[in-house]
Amino acid sequence: MYRTHNCGELRMDNVGQTITLSGWLQASRDFGGMTFIDLRDRYGITQLVFNMEDDEALCNQARKLGREYVLKISGLVRERTNKNPNRPTGNIEIEVKSLEVLNAAKTPPFTIEEDTDGGEDLRMKYRYLDLRRKKVQDNIIFRSELAIETRKYLANKDFIEVETPVLIKSTPEGARDFVVPSRMNTGEFYALPQSPQTFKQILMVAGFDKYFQIVKCFRDEDLRADRQPEFTQIDCEMSFVTQEDILNTFEGLTKHLFKTTIGVDLADFPRISYDEAMEKYGSDKPDLRFDMAFTELNDVAQQKGFSVFDNAELVVGICATAQANAYSNKDIKALTEWMQQPQIGAKGLVYVKVNPDGTFKSSVGKFFSDDDLKVWANKMNAKPGDLLLILSGETEKTRKQLNNLRLEMGRRMGLMKEGDFKPLWVLDFPLLEWDEESNRFHAMHHPFTSPKKEDVDRMMAGDHETMKSLRADAYDLVINGSEIGGGSIRIHDRALQSRNFDLLGFSKEEAADQFGFLLGAFEYGAPPHGGIAFGFDRLCAVLKGQSSIRDFIAFPKNNQGRDMMIDAPATISAEQLEELALLLQKKEVER
Ligand code: AMO
Repeated sequence: MYRTHNCGELRMDNVGQTITLSGWLQASRDFGGMTFIDLRDRYGITQLVFNMEDDEALCNQARKLGREYVLKISGLVRERTNKNPNRPTGNIEIEVKSLEVLNAAKTPPFTIEEDTDGGEDLRMKYRYLDLRRKKVQDNIIFRSELAIETRKYLANKDFIEVETPVLIKSTPEGARDFVVPSRMNTGEFYALPQSPQTFKQILMVAGFDKYFQIVKCFRDEDLRADRQPEFTQIDCEMSFVTQEDILNTFEGLTKHLFKTTIGVDLADFPRISYDEAMEKYGSDKPDLRFDMAFTELNDVAQQKGFSVFDNAELVVGICATAQANAYSNKDIKALTEWMQQPQIGAKGLVYVKVNPDGTFKSSVGKFFSDDDLKVWANKMNAKPGDLLLILSGETEKTRKQLNNLRLEMGRRMGLMKEGDFKPLWVLDFPLLEWDEESNRFHAMHHPFTSPKKEDVDRMMAGDHETMKSLRADAYDLVINGSEIGGGSIRIHDRALQSRNFDLLGFSKEEAADQFGFLLGAFEYGAPPHGGIAFGFDRLCAVLKGQSSIRDFIAFPKNNQGRDMMIDAPATISAEQLEELALLLQKKEVER
């Protein structure tokens, strides 16, 4: 028998019992006459004691053991004289009577403790060692709990879990596909799913009514803290539902997950339209842990002789509460330079400080009187001591820049509080997005998203400009500034779907070639349907107040898309290439 207990469960009640534990040597302390060892497993750490006076040979054996050795010990549980209140097992220790080394270990390349000394690359290479660290292990265990609670909630609501294939044909979710060559079909490729979108819609046509799947998706896109090339979705679809039904069901799921995993009761989620989100926060995923909403100033700041504002499409600002004193001229200069960095690209930054005596100090004081500035301050609900920060320029760009500034000020002012959760629904996204570069429309969500009922006629018959104003039954779930989920009501009418493909620039042949199966299915009684997918990795990170999803994935990829542990991607042998007819194709391309 390897163990009677685990390393996290022995307490004062067990004193006097003879027990057996197995685990890893976390640390050892040798005091000559006595040696202490911390034995660790998934459940905790228990202190072992070896006493020279009791058993010299055993004690000498213990002194030689290195970090991460795998041990099995038996001994007597006794009360500690020197208790450790920071450890659940800190009131007891084990007087070891026998010791077996189950396996030796090389000295690990970094310390396996809460705050390790290992750099990112090293820890990824030795991921199995990093995964031994409590912090990392807790994240993975948390992920498992979240998956189990998701299944419980959805099963309880009659959802059926269905697996969809991984070797498929390209689904357009806006990223590049990972492709897999087919040996049996020379020159042809499977694509890995960017999501199971078309399959879940087909499942609705098949009558499954409520589907879900916790599923891997693959997207060949540039990586960031919240993006991995393979990630997991809680993917869902329902039949005979309106947008309202979907929002309610998945608001329910979100509340359930917050309650059961971290004990947080969420209030009902506010809903704002895409247009309002862009106007007030310059982002379709606003962080609502703080307000600092935008105020547009065109009507009060233009035509006063300041040409930068006069020539701008939009003049817009935020009010940073009580920050006037916190920003010296030097600080304002540094903030302006921060706004001018290429990633943000602002040309300049106008400030107005509201002085306690009702006067103003501003970078544009030459152009605007105190009376003018008072009107701005009133419009922005500013109080004495507040700092107004104002940008101007082309509408979309300026809003984006001010969004960056709002988030930065929120961070600096400590307004993104840990343990504070502010979910919201963003609704009524545009259906289509005009891309100047490629001179064509893109689907804002994906090509299967339905226009709003009231926009269907305009979509079927309208001109080019009309298409830009179509709104979709599409929604995103945003929590603390992170896009956690997105979905839509789908088109279930073949003619409307064909029209959408048309607008997106697919020829009849291309549409038939890529999506013939879906269009075909729509001819056999497709029910009205809609759905949503949550980014499962992102949900884990948000619940735990972290920004990197990598910490919640057992075997993540680095920023170059590499798995450092198995060293993938890698080249394959000439034989494999030949078998897949890839060598041949390369030659053909070169010719
Ligand atoms: P969408 O493309 O919005 O919708 O994806 C849904 C959610 O998945 C998460 N996500 C990612 N997470 C980590 N790494 C990535 N590379 C990544 N890409 C997306 C986000 C996002 O909100 N088929 C539709 C859903 C539907 O319409 O039902 C879809 O995939 O949290």
